[in-house]
Amino acid sequence: RFSTPTTPKPYAIITPRKTSHVQSTIYCSKNHGFQLRIRSGGHDVEGVSYVSQVPFVILDLVNFRDVNVDTKNEVAWVQSGATTGELYYGIASKTQTLGFPAGICHTIGIGGHLSGGGFGILGRKYGLAADHVIDAKLVDANGRVLHRKSMGEDLFWAIRGGGGNTFGVVLAWKIKLVPVPPVVTVFTVNKNLEQNATKTFHRWQYIAHKLSRDLFTTVWVMKVNSSQVGRKTVLASFKGMFLGRIDVLIPLIQYAFPELGLARENCTEMSWVQSVLYFGALPIEPVEILLNRSALPRLSLKAKTDYIREPMSETGIEGFMNMFLEEGTDFAITMIEAFGGKMDEIRENEIPFPHRSGILFESVYIVQWRNEEDAGLCINWIRRLYSYMSSYASKSLRGAYYNYKDLDLGTNNINGYTSYEQASVWGLKYFRNNFKRLVRIKTMIDPMNFFSNEQSIPPLLSP
Ligand code: FDA
Repeated sequence: RFSTPTTPKPYAIITPRKTSHVQSTIYCSKNHGFQLRIRSGGHDVEGVSYVSQVPFVILDLVNFRDVNVDTKNEVAWVQSGATTGELYYGIASKTQTLGFPAGICHTIGIGGHLSGGGFGILGRKYGLAADHVIDAKLVDANGRVLHRKSMGEDLFWAIRGGGGNTFGVVLAWKIKLVPVPPVVTVFTVNKNLEQNATKTFHRWQYIAHKLSRDLFTTVWVMKVNSSQVGRKTVLASFKGMFLGRIDVLIPLIQYAFPELGLARENCTEMSWVQSVLYFGALPIEPVEILLNRSALPRLSLKAKTDYIREPMSETGIEGFMNMFLEEGTDFAITMIEAFGGKMDEIRENEIPFPHRSGILFESVYIVQWRNEEDAGLCINWIRRLYSYMSSYASKSLRGAYYNYKDLDLGTNNINGYTSYEQASVWGLKYFRNNFKRLVRIKTMIDPMNFFSNEQSIPPLLSP
């Protein structure tokens, strides 16, 4: 989507090797009136880490990739340009009993991911990646190098989920690792429209958030070939990861969710790090795939998100599923991820990511396409899907997940000042009551709005 001939190109791509290179890039960009776009893994779903409508340079942290794991103290320092895969691999090559609760896809960059939250298969047990950040190294708009102590608790709070390219360049993060058993169990049970997918999903909504927090489940909805030649159907793929062995998992599911029909042949035991590859739909061996930053197919995509607090009706689910039979859905997927467990327990204002207690599940709607001429059709489809889901998403204020940015929700003005009211339109969806505090911290640390993008937090006063 962002590599067309008309996509604005950067004046330069800077790949620093030392902190002083980052400081120089900030000084030079300021002096010459360039906007800075920071890129770690480059997975921003609206391309804001490498595209801008004003003259800009990219600060690419591809050389800041160190992962230092200290198993004794159960912590690690990870640089922003590392991917989650490099982090997971770094942990697993030292120990089988520690892990880290970050996102599913192993090619996501740590810098952008931790800046927006980070939810994955350990989320119900431990919360978000950003919940486990205990220190950080940041270069601010004046080129100062700050750590937790010198940046103060307000700024340290803001960078753990308040959005990237907003408060400074985070070069590295100190994270707390979490215990995982040496063997976990993963499973997949597939049901299509002819196999009670709708009813099973309907039931799943009442159960998934209440299950043991050792068990994460998710439903992936997509269009597939039907058993009748030439016809399509919609698949609900029920997947799970249990922090324990098959023999414990099966009776647990058979008691709480018999409708799923989980059988031993649906389940596989493996290590936690292999389960990351399993969820990434990759072979689980060799685990060195985690180090391959381009292991996944490159399709264009547009994403949107919702947080659902009340179960959908069966008719509602049916309508949702049937939308996958429309045109433009060949590579569309919705990942419906159960919340509850630890997510219910963390206060809404603990870090900027506010979507916690009472949420049944997060829905990540994604549409993808190969040919640029399909873009319009696919984007129209996802907008209609989002509109269909409006009656099921949180009634008072519809929430959204900053890590799947959606510029349809609104943007900052390209040039000049964006008011608090204007930014509130998307800011409150992403951050709810934390938005105000983020604006106050932004005003304090970067009043001239040097670090900005289409949905960065604006400062209160116009420069
Ligand atoms: P990228 O480098 O594009 O940066 C994203 C944003 O952060 C930009 O605004 C950028 O300027 C800023 N930024 C980057 N590095 C920074 C730094 N060091 N300091 C300050 N600002 C910085 N999410 C999730 O929670 N769970 C998941 O399982 C997945 N899975 C997933 C799969 C795929 C295929 C995609 C495309 C995306 C996801 N995501 C996700 C969303 C992902 O967490 C989100 O896109 C992250 O911002 C990606 O971080 P990158 O560093 O790769 O992005």
